Amino acid sequence: MSSALTRGVLAVVGRRDLPRPLDEHALLSALPMPVVLLDADNRFRFANHAAEQFLGISLVQLIQLRLSDLVPPDNPIFLLIEQVRDGDVTVSDHDLTLESPRLRKHGITVQGTPLPEEPGAVLLVLQDASAARTLDRQLTFRGAARSVTGMAAILAHEVKNPLSGIRGAAQLLEGSVSEADRELTVLIRDEADRIRGLVDRMEIFSEKPIERGPVNIHRVLEHVRRLAQSGFAAHIRFTEGYDPSLPSVLGNRDQLVQVLLNLVKNAAEAIIAAGNANGEITLMTAFQHGVRLAVPGSEQRVHLPLVVVVRDNGPGIPDDIRQHLFDPFVSSKPSGSGLGLALVAKVVSDHGGLIEVDSRPGRTEFRLHLPVLSDDATDTN
Ligand SMILES: Nc1ncnc2c1ncn2[C@@H]1O[C@H](COP(=O)(O)OP(=O)(O)OP(=O)(O)O)[C@@H](O)[C@H]1O
Ligand SMILES: [Mg+2]
Repeated sequence: MSSALTRGVLAVVGRRDLPRPLDEHALLSALPMPVVLLDADNRFRFANHAAEQFLGISLVQLIQLRLSDLVPPDNPIFLLIEQVRDGDVTVSDHDLTLESPRLRKHGITVQGTPLPEEPGAVLLVLQDASAARTLDRQLTFRGAARSVTGMAAILAHEVKNPLSGIRGAAQLLEGSVSEADRELTVLIRDEADRIRGLVDRMEIFSEKPIERGPVNIHRVLEHVRRLAQSGFAAHIRFTEGYDPSLPSVLGNRDQLVQVLLNLVKNAAEAIIAAGNANGEITLMTAFQHGVRLAVPGSEQRVHLPLVVVVRDNGPGIPDDIRQHLFDPFVSSKPSGSGLGLALVAKVVSDHGGLIEVDSRPGRTEFRLHLPVLSDDATDTN
């Protein structure tokens, strides 16, 4: 095992607050994620237990092999490895197929990292379909969002006009009816307003072209946090971790505000519903080099280096709705419309981005992957 590889681990286990140093091999071996180390000639130098299982080959056999013994030389994984070596950066690729007579794996996410003190060596973290499945699901969410597109346009058109008539009539009546009946006219007005609000939210699903420009995502996040803290998330602690060097997103500021507001609102609602007194919402941004994602139905891969994370320590997403989380009208809340995440999926997909979800009790994380503005880094929003 390379000393470079163990160094980071040792630095962690060597901290004074831990009772005794742990064996770094044991740690790596116990890691449930498949990890392999390749040397400069793409020979296997190390594989943990998870990797042995994943590849179906024992470590003893593996260290006699090269990567090219397992996958054909035109596999994109070799390109990824070269990029790691050339750029000396971490590169990840999603939805790879590792296929050969010995191996048959689809939808694999591979992350390659250089080892600074071991020139040419590359550490590969392989992830099975589960992570990729989230992405698949995201891709189907796009379809779900589209299916309401036509309906949204019709609703907006057909409901709004008569609705304003109803509202106006109720308002007129308010002045001339008895006190007891006024309650009813107010009810009509309030309900008309509620339906209008719903229709307004639906309208975003119609395929109207949107204006896009450079958007400073931190300003968007700050705006959303302020809105949240002065309203629905007044008693919830916010933690921020922003990468200040982040370039602008090419996007529509108002729509990105809506996306983040929906995510933060869901986070706050989950915390509040659980009665969690130590509720915390974490907002983070990061620049991830080399994140490429497959565009469905094409060979194209898009670069989505900008990551925005909304995390909460609420109870997690209920099991029964996980599969349909981003579908419209899916809600576990008595008064929820179930449009929040459908809207998020639609806007993110319109921006050419992707969204991933990872949820368990005490930790729910929505990760947006967005493209950056390529040439023009100036910021007008
Ligand atoms: N951070 C979260 N923690 C736990 N559950 C969540 C979280 N975010 C979303 N959910 C679940 O996903 C469901 C769908 O969310 P979505 O935002 O689409 O609709 P909603 O919040 O129920 O209604 P609306 O957003 O229209 O008011 C929620 O009802 C909730 O069960
Ligand atoms: Mg919501």
